[in-house]
Amino acid sequence: HSSLRETADDRGFRIGAALNARSLRSDPSYWKAARNEFNAITPENALKMGPLRPSRKTYDFTDADAIVDFGRAHDMYVRGHTLVWHNQKPDWFQAWDYTDEQLETFLRDHVHTVAGRYRAKIDAWDVVNEAVADDGTLRETVWADAMGEEYLDKAFRWAREVTDADLYYNDYGADAVNGKSDAIHDLLSDLLDRGVPIDGVGLQCHALGEWPDPDSVAENVRRFRELGLDVQITEMDVAFPADERPEDALEQQAEYYRAITEACLEAGCDTLVQWGVNDATSWLRGFKDFPERFTGDPLLFDDGCDPKPAYHAVREAL
Ligand code: XIL
Repeated sequence: HSSLRETADDRGFRIGAALNARSLRSDPSYWKAARNEFNAITPENALKMGPLRPSRKTYDFTDADAIVDFGRAHDMYVRGHTLVWHNQKPDWFQAWDYTDEQLETFLRDHVHTVAGRYRAKIDAWDVVNEAVADDGTLRETVWADAMGEEYLDKAFRWAREVTDADLYYNDYGADAVNGKSDAIHDLLSDLLDRGVPIDGVGLQCHALGEWPDPDSVAENVRRFRELGLDVQITEMDVAFPADERPEDALEQQAEYYRAITEACLEAGCDTLVQWGVNDATSWLRGFKDFPERFTGDPLLFDDGCDPKPAYHAVREAL
């Protein structure tokens, strides 16, 4: 039968996975699954500020280049993740005693350098990630602290100065219609009213324990599209609470992947990216913020990169 990638290509749909450079280099079955089954990729960590900035004045693009070049070599759509975020800042950042103005200059240079380097290679950027707190207010971050809410306007404008890539706002917990997605909807329509160059919204879709209702996800996609924005699912994975894994976990997971794929097709979201290729490399395995909280098998391929029921469900839905 045809691969997931071929099926998606025929449908005009982008099916993607987050990639890490170490697995690409060291695991041939990971490389093969990434190459054959996906037509879109996102570097999982390599383009974040921490990994990119070993010191204030230097950059290390080794892993980012490896992943982006892999994507281009195999004719894939490449998502850049992410230019401005409160997490995964460099270690040296803590000890840096900056003024507000220095921080703004630093961020502008970062956006210009990174987005500019990949100008012809990255198709879409998550310019700002997770700027809204769970209660819908602007999250308190070093960026908001130094620059106010306007840091979003500035980040998008700086990115537009150096790249024609589509520019995205990306967040979690805002997949369905809820208080947080209401707040993001307001925020993005304000940005658009102010003429800020924003092209789309990324819904992460980490279904961890609580799985967003697919009908509500479709409705949410539609209302963002009505603002004139493109919508992509950017970081999907599907897990159970660790102590409540049902016997038919893989079947339930497959049905949920199917339902979200159908919601995308129905509501006009043309890109669905999983947060990893195979379960063995999922961030839910041993991630320190989620000690033992969720089952560690949230993706389309099992530890050995064999397709799971979820893989077949997504393929059938396309
Ligand atoms: C995660 C990575 O998967 C982990 O490897 C890393 O240790 C922490 O970050 N939302 C995001 C992603 O936007 O960047 C996060 O990725 C997962 C949650």
